[in-house]
Formats: sequence, structure tokens, C-alpha cells
Amino acid sequence: MREFVAVLDFGSQYAQLISRRIRECGVYCEILPHDVTSSELVAMAPRAVVLSGGPASVLEEGHPGMDAAIFDLGLPVLGICYGLQLTAKVLGGRLERGLAREYGPATIEVDTPLGLFQGLAGRLDVWMSHGDHVSSPPAGFTVLAHTPTCQVAAMGNEGKKIYGVQFHPEVVHTPRGTEILKNFLFAIAGCTGGWSMKGFIEEAVEAIRTEVKDGRVICGMSGGVDSAVVAALLNRAIGERMTAIFVDNGVLRGGEADEIRRTFTGSYPLNLDIVDASDRFLDALAGVTDPEEKRKIIGRTFIDVFNAEAARIGGAEFLAQGTLYPDIIESRSAKGGPSATIKSHHNVGGLPEDLQFRLIEPLKELFKDEVRMLGRELGMPESILQRQPFPGPGLAVRILGEVTKENVAILQEADARVQEEMARWDGYGGVWQSFAVLLPVKTVGVMGDERTYANVIAVRAVQSQDGMTADWVKVPYDVLSRISARIINEVQGVNRVVYDISSKPPSTIEWE
Ligand code: XMP
Repeated sequence: MREFVAVLDFGSQYAQLISRRIRECGVYCEILPHDVTSSELVAMAPRAVVLSGGPASVLEEGHPGMDAAIFDLGLPVLGICYGLQLTAKVLGGRLERGLAREYGPATIEVDTPLGLFQGLAGRLDVWMSHGDHVSSPPAGFTVLAHTPTCQVAAMGNEGKKIYGVQFHPEVVHTPRGTEILKNFLFAIAGCTGGWSMKGFIEEAVEAIRTEVKDGRVICGMSGGVDSAVVAALLNRAIGERMTAIFVDNGVLRGGEADEIRRTFTGSYPLNLDIVDASDRFLDALAGVTDPEEKRKIIGRTFIDVFNAEAARIGGAEFLAQGTLYPDIIESRSAKGGPSATIKSHHNVGGLPEDLQFRLIEPLKELFKDEVRMLGRELGMPESILQRQPFPGPGLAVRILGEVTKENVAILQEADARVQEEMARWDGYGGVWQSFAVLLPVKTVGVMGDERTYANVIAVRAVQSQDGMTADWVKVPYDVLSRISARIINEVQGVNRVVYDISSKPPSTIEWE
């Protein structure tokens, strides 16, 4: 059985970041619901358990809890922030509500530079984010670190290998946080590490071959990184028995279908089938303005096209998709976990109930940057791996209001200008996504001596690690100014360009 660490989820975004860091240390880990029972956990045989942070307060009624028997399993446990507070509460420590929420950088004084803090004597910069704090640790625990305002910044019961930290070792603002996590994983929990992409490919190829046997798989390719990597992985596992289907759904970026054709019939050949279903999608979207309705229509139409293509190639029992780990966690949370659904991403939420295919989702344990690593390991070209994420519903969620052929053409033109000018900027490598959005309003302008009444394009550029949170990019004025001038001068039907300066949360990356 492979070595793994269980991260109990008390707030998805916290759990995901912890999980990424643990995997970066070469230890495979999985996020489990916070109410997993001790017997379920025993059956999975983790090496250690991490309790994530979360937005709730253990001093309030109805806060997410955990099976207290987990502390009796003899497994090493590390509670982070909320996880520390819950550990203290469950094991009989005392907690106090803070007068003010402490949020931001702090410096802790390490009292015991052993175990969790091995090699980390003295003062450490950390990132704190909490309202409550532990005023007295449970019996058997000692204080391992403190700050002037937080007596228990870290605590531990060395005998039972149960630890808690009030700060967040998983964020970059805790510069030595990874060393703390490594101390827990390797020195305390005895993990051996060594989880890597090469190993992942071998396991995934084996799993695909076992599942598919001599069957056929179709793989919906969207032009984005994830589905391309899925296709490459399936190609490695079953060769010609996988058909990658790239559907031109009428809401692609300009020139996209050609680029896909060039790459996957040229430098990285795959069994590729390009289907032009643009009219079918645009007809289905006619008159629809509700964002969720658009997503559902697109999800359904994709499946109709896949069904038809599967029949055309003589049948396929499986449909492969590029679902990633955060999608799975988000949809799991939507079913009653500690955080809410924001949008139904079509490759998880929008599939019809009567799907005729069995789904294969070989990336469902990976984060986005891990998918790029996987693609690199499979020898895929950087031009595909470095592509910005593009939503399955395409430009339909960037055309606010009704999607028409005319609107698609305007947005494709405007988007191409954004891409070209952004790619010329030397900060482009740090941009997660940059794109144009067509707004459903018209404004007055003047061109020459003519009054115009035309469309507005919003430009959005964000930085992000995994799409869960994002900051708007401080694109230099001269780049913005070239984007604006080119769109207004070169794209018919647009007389105004605005720049979106909102971060996620509270906004989302896409406008719909
Ligand atoms: P939001 O807008 O939720 O987007 O902040 C987060 C990331 O997900 C992409 N996105 C989607 N991807 N189907 C997809 O495959 C969808 O329906 C969808 N909606 C948003 C978005 O581009 C961003 O990278």
C-alpha cells in the first residue's frame, strides 16, 4: 500500500494548500471530510493525520467536529490553526476568544527546538490568522512556541506524537513552514517520501489498462492543459484505442482549432478527431442569458456530440475527462462540507444523469501545477503546457448575456489583441489568465466626428496558484494602453475598454 497522509478538511482552501505542500515534500496525501470516522481512517492506513485550518470557531455552536477516537489510534497528528484549537478542545485544553482577530505576520519564539521545531531554534517569522487561542494546553502537552500575545503558538504531546500550531506553516508568508511540515512528516511520522510524477505515470497507466481492458475510450479535448494531458496519458496507456475528440463548439478562442490540429497531428501525434459542432452549440445557446443555464446547455451538448462520435467510431464505453483535485473537493464541499459551491464547473457538476459512458478521470488526484509536471514528464510541448487555463464553456461565460455569432466574433477579435499585447510584456510568465470579456452594455463614444454607440470590452488579468484565489495583475499602463488602443481601433463594434481590478474572493476569475 502506498504511503499517504490524510488531511482532514475543515475549510477546503486551507486543506488544499496544506495538501499541495505535503506533496511537494514528496509525500502523497489526500483530503478527507472532517467527519471521517476512526475506523474508516484505519481502513485507509495513513501514516499521519493533519487537521486543516478553517473559518469556523470551536467556541461556537455547530462548528465542524471530528471523531475524537482518531487521537487514540497511535497515529501522529498535526493540527493547524483551527486544527490546533479543535485538538485542544477535544483533548480537554482551555480556549479563549481573542479580543481582536490576529491576522498577518507575527514572530514566534521557539521554546523547544526539537521534534516539530528541530533545527529551528530562536525566533521565526510566521503567518497568523485566528480569533480564538489556546490559553492552556490539554494534559500531557507542552508549549513549544509562543508570541507576546499568544501563549500557545505551538503545542505538542511528544509521547503521543500529537502536535498543533496556531500559525499557518503551509503559506509562503511562513518562510520556514516547509521545514516544520518536513519535521512532522519525516522525523515524527517516519514517512519515507519519494512520491513523484514518474511513479504517478506508472500507477496511472496501470490503472487505466486494468480498467479499460480491451475497450475503447473517447477523450473530450477542450484545448486546455488538463484535457490535453489526459489524452497524452491515455495515449501512453492504450494507444489507438483512445480517440481524442476536439469539439469546435463555436465559443473557442480565434485560431484554437488550428493550433490543436497542428500540435496533435504534428509534433505530438495522437489519435485526434476534430468535430465542427459550432452551429449546434450556438443554436442551443440562442436566447439564453443565465450563466448556469449556459453551462448546463454546453455540458449537455458536449455529451450529445460525444455520443454521436462514439457511435461513429464503432462504440466506446469510456469517456475520459481532465477533472482535477480541486474540482472534486469543490463538488464534495457542495454536498454539505464546510465551504459552498460557487459555480458548477461543467466537467464535474453539469454532466447529465443518464450518461452512457463510464467516466475515467486520471488527473482527479492532481493540482494544476502537478498536471503541467505530468505533461512535461510525458514529453508534451511547452506551447501546450504553458497555455493559460480556459474554461470548458469557453467564451460563452465571457459573453455576458446572449451568445450570438456576432458577439463571439467581436470577443475573439478583442481577445486576440489582449493575448498578443500581454505576450509581449515581460511579466507575462507570471500571469495565470488574461482575457477579454464582452459586456452586455453599450456606451457612447466619438470616432472621427461621428457619435458611436457600441460595445464595452473588459480586460481581466489575474495571478493565481490554482484558481482558488486570485489577485488582479498590476499590468503596466503602457501595456494596458496598447491593448485598449488596438481593441478600439481594430475591433469593429467596440468603443470602450475597461480593466477589471477585482480579486478572488470576493469576485471570481470569470465574469459568469
Ligand atoms: P472562477 O471563475 O470560478 O474560475 O474563479 C476558476 C478557474 O476555473 C475556470 N473555470 C471553468 N473551467 N469549466 C471549466 O472547465 C467551467 O465551467 C469553468 N468556470 C470557470 C476559470 O477559467 C478559472 O481558471
